[in-house]
Amino acid sequence: MRVNRLKAVNYRNLKRFEINPCKNVNIIFGDNAQGKTNLIEGIWLFTGCRSFRGSKDCEYINFENEQAMLELDFFGQGRDQNSKILVSDKKKVELNGVTLSSPSKLTSEFLAVVFSPAHLSIVKDGPSLRRKFLDTAICQLKPKYAGALLQYNRALSQRNALLKDITYHSELYDMLDVWEEKLCSLACVIISQRVEYIKKLEPFLIDIYSGISKGKEEMKISYITDEKIKLNSPADIKSSLVEALKSARKSDIYNGSTNTGPHRDDLGLEINGLLARNFGSQGQQRSCALALKLAEAELIKNITGEQPVILLDDVMSELDSARQDYILNHIKDKQVFITCCEPSALLKMSGGETFKLKEGSLCTCT
Ligand SMILES: Nc1ncnc2c1ncn2[C@@H]1O[C@H](COP(=O)(O)OP(=O)(O)OP(=O)(O)O)[C@@H](O)[C@H]1O
Ligand SMILES: [Mg+2]
Repeated sequence: MRVNRLKAVNYRNLKRFEINPCKNVNIIFGDNAQGKTNLIEGIWLFTGCRSFRGSKDCEYINFENEQAMLELDFFGQGRDQNSKILVSDKKKVELNGVTLSSPSKLTSEFLAVVFSPAHLSIVKDGPSLRRKFLDTAICQLKPKYAGALLQYNRALSQRNALLKDITYHSELYDMLDVWEEKLCSLACVIISQRVEYIKKLEPFLIDIYSGISKGKEEMKISYITDEKIKLNSPADIKSSLVEALKSARKSDIYNGSTNTGPHRDDLGLEINGLLARNFGSQGQQRSCALALKLAEAELIKNITGEQPVILLDDVMSELDSARQDYILNHIKDKQVFITCCEPSALLKMSGGETFKLKEGSLCTCT
C-alpha cells in the first residue's frame, strides 16, 4: 500500500494542498497549528474509519467554505487506484470513479495504521478505548465484524429494555431465553474474533516492545473477561456466557442492565508484570501504545500481504534516544508519514523526504 498523491481542497486549514510523498519515510514538520495532524487525519479517512480525533464530518470543512474535498491516489492490491471524499451536508465517497454506498465500504481497500497522541488513551484510560482499538483493528481485516458488533449492540439494548420491562410485567420473564440465545451467539462471534486477534498480534507485539526497550522490558497482552466465561473455544464461550447471563438475571433485572459480555471486556496490557495503565511511566505508556500500532501494521501485512501505510503523529516526544532510534529503524523500509515540530531527531535517518508545513501549505525542503 502506498500513497502517491494526496490533494485537499478546503479541508480544515488545508485549503489548497497537494503532496506527492516518497515511497518510504515522509517527515512532515512545522510549528504548532500549521496542519500536520490535519494532513495525517486526511490520509486516515481513506481507511473508511472515523477520525481518531472523534470529529464530526462538518468539522472537516474549512470555516470559510461550505464543502471540502480530499483525493488520494494510491497503489494497493497490485494496481493504481483513486479515491475521493466529498464533505458537504453529507459525506460522499468514491473509489475508482464509482460512488460507494457508505464511507465504511472503503475499509480494507486502503490500509493504514495511525498513532496520534490521542491513542495514548488506549493505554492510560478506561477499557472502552481498548475495546475500540481491538474492534477497529479487527474491522480492517474483517469488514463483516462491524456488522456483528452492530447487531450485538442492538440485541444488548433489547435485553436491557426487556430487563426493565420485567420489573413491571413479570409475565415477560420467559422471553429472556430467546433474547439471551441471540445475544450470546453474537457475543460469541465478537469474543472469539477478539481472542483470535490478540493471539495473532501477541508475537509481533512482544518482539516490537522488546526492541523499543532494548530487551530490558517485557510486554504482555491478554483478553480480560468475566471469570465465568471460558475462552477455550467458540462453543465454550457461548455455553459459559449463556450460563453466566442466566445466573445474573436477578441482579441484571435489579440494575436494568447486562453486566457480562464483550461490551464489558478489556484488553490487559502489562509491562514487566505490572499493568501499564496504573504503573507505566509516560515513556513506557507511549512505547506500549506505539508497539500496539506497529504490531497491528505487521499483522495486517502478515494476513493480507499488503504493508499498510503508517501514520505517526507527534510520536517522538517523551521517548529517549534509544527508543527513537528503534522506531526510526523499524519503519525505514515502509511508507510512513511522521510529524514533528523539530525535525532534528528525525533527520539522522537517510533515504526519506522532508516537507515543511506552514499555514496549511507545503514547501519542500532540500
Ligand atoms: N474546519 C477548520 N477550518 C479551518 N481551520 C481549521 C479547521 N479545523 C481545524 N483547523 C485549524 O487547523 C490548524 C492546524 O491544526 P493541526 O491540529 O493540524 O495542527 P498541527 O500542525 O498538528 O499542530 P501541533 O504541532 O500543535 O499538533 C489549527 O489551528 C486549527 O484551528
Ligand atoms: Mg498536531
